[in-house]
Amino acid sequence: MTAFLRRLLPALCLLAPIPAIAQQPAAVSGPPHLAWRTGAEARAIEGRIDALLARMTMAEKIGQLNLRGRGDDFRPEWIESGRTGAVMNFTSPAEVRAVRDRVARSRLKIPLIIGLDAVNGFATYLPQPIGWASTFNPRLIELAAYWSAREARAAGINWTFAPMIDMTRDARWGRIMEGAGEDVHLASVAAAARVAGYHRGGLATSAKHFVGYGAAEGGRDYNSVWIPVSQLWDYQIPPFRAAIDAGAFTVMTSLSAMNGVASTGDRPLITDILKRRLGFRGFVVSDFDSVRELMNHGMAADRAEAARKAFLAGVDMDMMSGAYDAHLADEIRAGRVTEAALNEAVRRVLRVKFHMGLFDEPPYDPALAARDMATPQARADSLAVARESIVMLRNHESLLPIRPSVRSIAVIGGAATHQEDWQYSDNAGLPRVRPPKLPDELSRLLGPGVAVSFAPGLATHCNLAPGDTTGAVRTAEAADLVVIMLGEDCEQIGEGTSRAHLDLPPVQQALLDAVIGAGKPVVVILHTTRPFVLTRFADRVGAILQAFHLGTEGRTALAEVMTGRVNPSGKLPMTFPRATGQVPIYYDRLPTGRPRLTDARYETGYTDEKLEPLYPFGFGLSFSRFGFDRLNLDAPTAPLSGSIAGSVRVTNTAGPAGQEVVQVYVHQKVGSRSRPLRQLRFFQKVEVGAGGEATVRFSIPVRSLGFHDDQARYRVEPGEYEIFVGNDSNATLSATVRVTAR
Ligand code: BGC
Repeated sequence: MTAFLRRLLPALCLLAPIPAIAQQPAAVSGPPHLAWRTGAEARAIEGRIDALLARMTMAEKIGQLNLRGRGDDFRPEWIESGRTGAVMNFTSPAEVRAVRDRVARSRLKIPLIIGLDAVNGFATYLPQPIGWASTFNPRLIELAAYWSAREARAAGINWTFAPMIDMTRDARWGRIMEGAGEDVHLASVAAAARVAGYHRGGLATSAKHFVGYGAAEGGRDYNSVWIPVSQLWDYQIPPFRAAIDAGAFTVMTSLSAMNGVASTGDRPLITDILKRRLGFRGFVVSDFDSVRELMNHGMAADRAEAARKAFLAGVDMDMMSGAYDAHLADEIRAGRVTEAALNEAVRRVLRVKFHMGLFDEPPYDPALAARDMATPQARADSLAVARESIVMLRNHESLLPIRPSVRSIAVIGGAATHQEDWQYSDNAGLPRVRPPKLPDELSRLLGPGVAVSFAPGLATHCNLAPGDTTGAVRTAEAADLVVIMLGEDCEQIGEGTSRAHLDLPPVQQALLDAVIGAGKPVVVILHTTRPFVLTRFADRVGAILQAFHLGTEGRTALAEVMTGRVNPSGKLPMTFPRATGQVPIYYDRLPTGRPRLTDARYETGYTDEKLEPLYPFGFGLSFSRFGFDRLNLDAPTAPLSGSIAGSVRVTNTAGPAGQEVVQVYVHQKVGSRSRPLRQLRFFQKVEVGAGGEATVRFSIPVRSLGFHDDQARYRVEPGEYEIFVGNDSNATLSATVRVTAR
């Protein structure tokens, strides 16, 4: 963005209407959850804040903006002296109780907000959030967030640094598993469902990272991002809008710089867009140390300048850098920061604390931890999410479900028996569920008539060092069927784990090649956290199951799918490339002036690889075969203020009862600017009995079909729109509708 546009943006932003999210998550019943108070209650809170602010010293105010945590030079006395109003990374109930107790000894007794990356479980692990997205089931996404929150809440934590709703089109970036993938509609639905779930489980949310962190150039974590205005509004901001509309209490800035300005020091972004245009009422927290890192970005000469720039940009709370604590008072005394601005930031923090109900809460009881941790219900729900998040990518000649003729199975790969899946936050020695092992689960479900053997194949479950390949091959040779579980583990997952190569690591590919060489039918389970390139082996194995680190109950869910007890229904939330060089690759791309029509030279594509991915967005197989027909639109035209409504029939033409995800994509044929080839605008998972059929109705508000121009103005244009319906982003059943001006 040019400097001119950056200056213009805030004013223009105020002009654009807010496009609605076409689909909201289904509600899940349960105990009351955290939510913004409304009406008289909200007004009364502002009055209580005024009264409290009037009693606070400048030091106590700055203390409310200072988030400090276990592991740095933190001193518990800071709580009673009012020097810190928020803490993070205390995970054991006893520790949490101890820091909370300090509040009682402080002058104003302002409760602490206690943060943690409680992302996908605490004692009972859920699949990684990318797996929640692959369920295409908002109810399960909400449920997964609920349990992740409820267990952490039982340990005394009240704020999660989640959901991460960064959009991701580049599988080289390591944090893909924390988000919902490449599609803006799915990601927005997931963002709302996650906020609702975490809040229902008792944790305030932090939608992160505002904004564009997942678009790091080259997939390199922390790298700069370049995002044109139209993309910012059409692609990056909608999940944040959905999270804010769903009631997110806080928003975290990004560690990266967008269009040349580090987000933590970007006033047009934080104040003008997030707080003013999106109407965000909660507080903005920096990312870890990102206030001080303004110096590394070359935007501040020293920590005092970093504190000033971040604060004036609109960052209310400083996570871990200590810059506000050390310098804000001097900045105010010198007149570079006003006291009014300080009061506004403190008001936002206190507002969140009041709306969370922290001032009126009974003291935390560590005994809760024993009651609410790793309950049978949490495990059952974790299993429900895991089942639906498994994506079957290949099932050649119906290798799965395992046939009765199979009398022996070789399970290969340390991940199949490893009992400590990767987890964002350690729950500090509290009871933790030990995941069942895959061979045990297969034996349990198949009974004594089927022999299940195991060989790790690699040296450790981290899957990076060669192990006993010969032993693994011998085990495979002796069995009727081979199940090999490979993928990412240990230090290959999460923040700071960008990859230059998306193929299986050579040591895993070598083991797989050797095992394929044993000549037995092979099922590959990919225990990965992002799309990998599977081209080197996909057509040499019988079946492929994509498992996005399924959590505590994952190996049970996998065994249930392989034995046919569960019919897979997960769909890919990201495109799977054929080669790393195709990345970034995504389905909702723009057309080109030279589309790929005849495989000729001067058409978009590669000379050494196909243009198409290996597996498209939205793809996932079932043991059933589903057909789509009778696509009927209610009307051939729709006004700008109306909806495109219609129905489609889904028929289960072969196989058992199963679930299918009906996906509706829309394409504006001609517009004032080039429009994506297709965009998902509606999805719904339906259960269809064996030989049965279901008619699914859809309704897409026309106002959700628009786009932002380079001045951030939103518009929806009359004209012809094509609708595509099916079960992945290559859907072919189509109809055309004309959008009219009125
Ligand atoms: C990450 C955040 C996280 C924070 C606290 C940072 O490095 O980018 O997403 O919430 O650490 O753990």
